[in-house]
Amino acid sequence: LPVAPFKNEAPTDWGNPENREELNRNLEFVKTELGKEYPLIIGEKEISTEHKLASYNPALHKEVVGYVCQAGKDDIETAIKAARKAYESWSSMTFQERARHLFKAAEIMKRRNAELVAWQIYEAGKNWGEADGEINEAIDFLEMYGRKAIELEQGQELESLPGIENRLEYKPLGVGAIISPWNFPLAIVTGMTVSAIVTGNTVLLKPASLTPVIAAKFMEIMHEADIPDGVINFVPGSSGEIGDYMVAHRDINFVSFTGSKEAGLHIDEVAHTRIPGQRWIKRVVAEMGGKNGIIVDESADLDAAADGIVTSAFGYQGQKCSAGSRAIIHENVYDVMVDKIIERTKTLHVGPGTENNAIGPVIDDKAFKKIKEYIEVGKEEGELIFGGDSDNTRGYYITPTIYKDVAPGSRIMKEEIFGPVLAICKVASVEEGINVYNDTEYGLTGALYTNDRDKIRYARKKMDCGNLFFNGKCTGALVGVQPFGGYYMSGTGSKTGCLDYLLSFVQAKTCAENF
Ligand code: NAD
Ligand code: ALA
Repeated sequence: LPVAPFKNEAPTDWGNPENREELNRNLEFVKTELGKEYPLIIGEKEISTEHKLASYNPALHKEVVGYVCQAGKDDIETAIKAARKAYESWSSMTFQERARHLFKAAEIMKRRNAELVAWQIYEAGKNWGEADGEINEAIDFLEMYGRKAIELEQGQELESLPGIENRLEYKPLGVGAIISPWNFPLAIVTGMTVSAIVTGNTVLLKPASLTPVIAAKFMEIMHEADIPDGVINFVPGSSGEIGDYMVAHRDINFVSFTGSKEAGLHIDEVAHTRIPGQRWIKRVVAEMGGKNGIIVDESADLDAAADGIVTSAFGYQGQKCSAGSRAIIHENVYDVMVDKIIERTKTLHVGPGTENNAIGPVIDDKAFKKIKEYIEVGKEEGELIFGGDSDNTRGYYITPTIYKDVAPGSRIMKEEIFGPVLAICKVASVEEGINVYNDTEYGLTGALYTNDRDKIRYARKKMDCGNLFFNGKCTGALVGVQPFGGYYMSGTGSKTGCLDYLLSFVQAKTCAENF
């Protein structure tokens, strides 16, 4: 079947009163849905467990978004068996047949867009724009991976020899564990899961414990898109209880993880420990944290740079792996840039996402405390020039916080804070700025604002990151347009949102037939 060319989903126009009314209707509707129970889904069965975990609204932490059943080790055993059984038929379908389910799911998400935005607001603490952007990213993953999977059907073009037909075909790996983070609870769950299944694998999906209800909504959509039972098995649960068990399991072929560096490195170690009877080397795809930064040259458009820095630092409260938590600024424009950054930050209103405030709550009490600790560390390492306040009486609110004159090598210049905290550092040249930028163990996103082409050429070679932007913010990479993923301790180097990512979940078989 012909498939229309890929196009990124357009952002919702909130200036249009119809769109605002639709969202308000859905916010009301989802409010009536809060507090329900969500079962495990294993094969064709919905399983209610005794142990349920409550998911809370970070903007109103007394409000329960849903109660989610928690898988134990026995459930993991059952789920692996269900996935193995479903693998037999699912893996033998064509890429095109499997892709059709993804296209259906994309249409369902488009239809349910406003409802999904509302769930994001209640469970993840996003505002309208951040929530809408995420639903669009999920739809883009479905549309992109569906199309790219169809390309894999051809295998790879090979040199031919007279009398021999040679073919390289892509085969799935088997049964995988999908382990996702809370900060993109729909987009990342969707991208990780559908890339693995469209290539013919079957999976166990263990979503983050802070946003499992949105993952349950993803399962509803997959069911409606007719994905056969057992292809995606939904096993929310505590990482302490089932994490290592699932990752180490002899019958798991691969692990696809997105989350923190510490958890990613641990999973990598566990997955690569040999288990008696194991017949394959587990593949681990790990997308991890970042300590991203934006460098500003003296030749830059300073207003554009200040816009980019503030959006990258404080969008979704700085809780994006791509967040730009460092601004590294040329000394000749340092003071004026600091003023511009403060001026813009002052306009960011803090409050709940239901009312579309620029800065919503951070995700939970643990994050709230950790960020506050970093705010104290920052006071020792630089001059606090904005924010630093917090309030957790109703939700977990932290004002955007800015430090200037932070020395390279200090903790807030090197460690991932994952909150609305920006460190500003002064440098004498772009070359020095790049050295400062590179002085972390990560390498995820970065940006350089400059009007000097030589500096752009230099940064292309020298800035160590997987996603580098010139004269633009370092967040918001678009599926298919800016494939996403980091270097070094930011990940195993795969790129989401393009064909390469699908290759993470296949193995190649070459068949040579002599005539
Ligand atoms: P996290 O590492 O705490 O958890 C991620 C997932 O791993 C969760 O589902 C968690 O339950 C699970 N997990 C933790 N330990 C495990 C174990 N031993 N075995 C199996 N599963 C285990 O991360 P988080 O707080 O959910 O997410 C935030 C982090 O994710 C940040 O560091 C952020 O930079 C990173 N992130 C990276 C990307 C990327 O594309 N590089 C995207 C989003 C988030
Ligand atoms: N695609 C997301 C971003 O770039 C992770 O912010």
